[in-house]
Amino acid sequence: MICLRRFPLVAIVLLLLSCHRGCAQNGVTIPIETRENALVIQMDKDNHPGIIYFGKKLSKASDYALISSQSRQRDGNAGIYNSAYTPAGSWNVSEPALQITHSDGNPSLDLIYVSHKAVKENDNTTLTSIQLKDPVYAVQVTLHYRTFAQENVVEQWSEIKSAEKGQITLQKYASANLYFVAKDFYLTHYNGTWAREMNPEEEHLTAGIRVLDSKLGTRANLFQPPSFMVSFDKPATETEGKVMLGTLAWSGNFRMDFEVDSYHNLRLIAGINNYASEYPLSSNQEFKTPSFIYTFSENGKGEASRNLHNWARKYRILDGEGSRLTLLNNWEATYFDFNEEKLSGLFKDGKKLGVDLFLLDDGWFANKYPRNNDGAGLGDWQENVKKLPHGIGYLVKEAKNAGIKFGIWVEPEMVNPKSELYEKHPDWVIKQPQRPEHYMRNQLPLDLSNPEVQTFVYGILDKLFTENPEIAYIKWDCNAITFNAYSAYLEKSKQKQSQLYVDYVKGLYKVLEKLRAKYPKVPMMLCSGGGGRVDYEALKYFTEFWPSDNTDPLERIFMQWEYSYFYPAITHSAHVTDWGKQPLKFRTDVAMMGKLGYDIVVSHLNEKDLKFSQQAVATYNSIKDVVWQGDLYRLVDPKQNDFASLMFSTKNKDRAILFSYLTGNRNGAGSDIPFRLQGLNPAKQYKVKELNLYPETRTAIKEDQTYSGEFLMTAGFNPAVSARRTSVIIEIVAVD
Ligand code: GLA
Repeated sequence: MICLRRFPLVAIVLLLLSCHRGCAQNGVTIPIETRENALVIQMDKDNHPGIIYFGKKLSKASDYALISSQSRQRDGNAGIYNSAYTPAGSWNVSEPALQITHSDGNPSLDLIYVSHKAVKENDNTTLTSIQLKDPVYAVQVTLHYRTFAQENVVEQWSEIKSAEKGQITLQKYASANLYFVAKDFYLTHYNGTWAREMNPEEEHLTAGIRVLDSKLGTRANLFQPPSFMVSFDKPATETEGKVMLGTLAWSGNFRMDFEVDSYHNLRLIAGINNYASEYPLSSNQEFKTPSFIYTFSENGKGEASRNLHNWARKYRILDGEGSRLTLLNNWEATYFDFNEEKLSGLFKDGKKLGVDLFLLDDGWFANKYPRNNDGAGLGDWQENVKKLPHGIGYLVKEAKNAGIKFGIWVEPEMVNPKSELYEKHPDWVIKQPQRPEHYMRNQLPLDLSNPEVQTFVYGILDKLFTENPEIAYIKWDCNAITFNAYSAYLEKSKQKQSQLYVDYVKGLYKVLEKLRAKYPKVPMMLCSGGGGRVDYEALKYFTEFWPSDNTDPLERIFMQWEYSYFYPAITHSAHVTDWGKQPLKFRTDVAMMGKLGYDIVVSHLNEKDLKFSQQAVATYNSIKDVVWQGDLYRLVDPKQNDFASLMFSTKNKDRAILFSYLTGNRNGAGSDIPFRLQGLNPAKQYKVKELNLYPETRTAIKEDQTYSGEFLMTAGFNPAVSARRTSVIIEIVAVD
């Protein structure tokens, strides 16, 4: 018997928290709580950590210890399904989170509880760390759970460390392993390809493993992003149902296993894809996995996504609570065909339109193999002397004279075989030495696992900024996936080829880290030929992303709707272009629910269109704060109706902007009856006003009427969307 009175307090705490295999302690229960929710981990009799609860938080933490007594699912034949980090190769035979080959070649692993601690980092965040170890081999794992209490968000990752003498190999090394108990599970995931991004599919999960993954390397999200939703018991709606939104903060290959086990419970294992990615770990080195980020709500997808937005703006997105620049882009206006004179004209057009910045797109560089189409020049980042004899500096000055900021496009991770860079450094390129090269858009990725390449890529941006400190915006593109994954650098430095996919992403983050250390604030758009290359690690460095090259506004309504579950509107670059057949007002109204930009020939606009666009930019400036920082409520889903409606409301509910768009074209399509608004104060009175009317048109809305918040949220409101009013923006303002 230990007499606790003889121990100082610190020792007692350590004693209570730490236990080794064989120690009689079991049942250590670790609640990981946010304001509303809890994930509870409890040790079994052998000190294996298992998840015993995921859901709404209980007010008495001591009650969590009772949860396991309520379950009658006892059968250890497959190991422990509910493991908080499932080890491979020993007593457990279900899909692992961690699989290792030890330095002596042995493939077995077990993980038992050592200790845990919870550190309050500030008023809102707490980091709970649980240390586990293998009782036989010197391998340690720490599971980290950072909770953001107010936002109900958890950021979870793992650290794997080996003190074995030789190198161990990580075969599978997930970020997160979770376990859910419910009657049924419905998984929503997204598929797509170029210009067809973010198509949702919801499926009832049945027994077995459903894998969502990417093996594309550089632009990993082309066919599928690392984001999903799981509804519990029944499919959640915007306002009802239990739903989890999850996403992996990793800009490379990912893998998520959703396994409905033999009890009909759901196991989730999410992390870097282990496909062709065995990763060596030397003695006393640590491997930190990327973060898996999730939120949970019992009140539907709307609340869950607002959780994520609040968290992302405050804690993750670069300058998430800051401002953004409206812009005029020349890509669709000129493609590769421009010169200084043409651009100077466009600067003036941008100014005339009223946007903040002119963005010079692809085609400004390379001389030996000029970048006059997408077949040459990528990698040669010197101004093309024919198009731009006076260089970028001259353009920045010209733009300034025209009263507009200047931004520029780069695609620094890529190379065309027809380039000086390729001629000089063929070994910097990802390609199989013995096989024919395989291209996407006539180009190949550079090998960012190579420190020299990292320096080169950093240098492209550093040179631009050093020579032109007034460059105010960067569009960072990435147009090819990784074929023929092979690194001459890894070969030469006697490392493993299987590191390439992971080391590429690590190399990219090193470059971005260094860049942001020197240029912390310059807004940067993450683009991937559309393709939605976006995740919450990249958004530490980028202010916004390009959801798709498809800017047909009808398509964008659907795509941005889906992106909006995971990323707030401030990150959705949305440009008015000539894609689609809709009138300019419709195209503009759609772009205004994201971060507004233009990619049109302003000088081709007729007088009315120009006037409308100038007013639209001014109107956008007056509502952008609500769109960027407000709470988003999705009201009418275009997938189930012939129109879409959504609104953004300020935190104090004094002002809201309602966007509605006709999406069906059958006779009579539109809003013939009212629908309920959300996010208002029921006790307040509101005035409604239609914004962004096309010149010489009149509103169909009664603007002298006031309505109570209760009325608007119960009886509802009708913005009168119809074939004659295909897009409608309404401002709703509280009156004292
Ligand atoms: C990609 C981008 C476009 C444009 C072109 C330039 O396709 O998505 O917006 O920048 O590259 O080549």
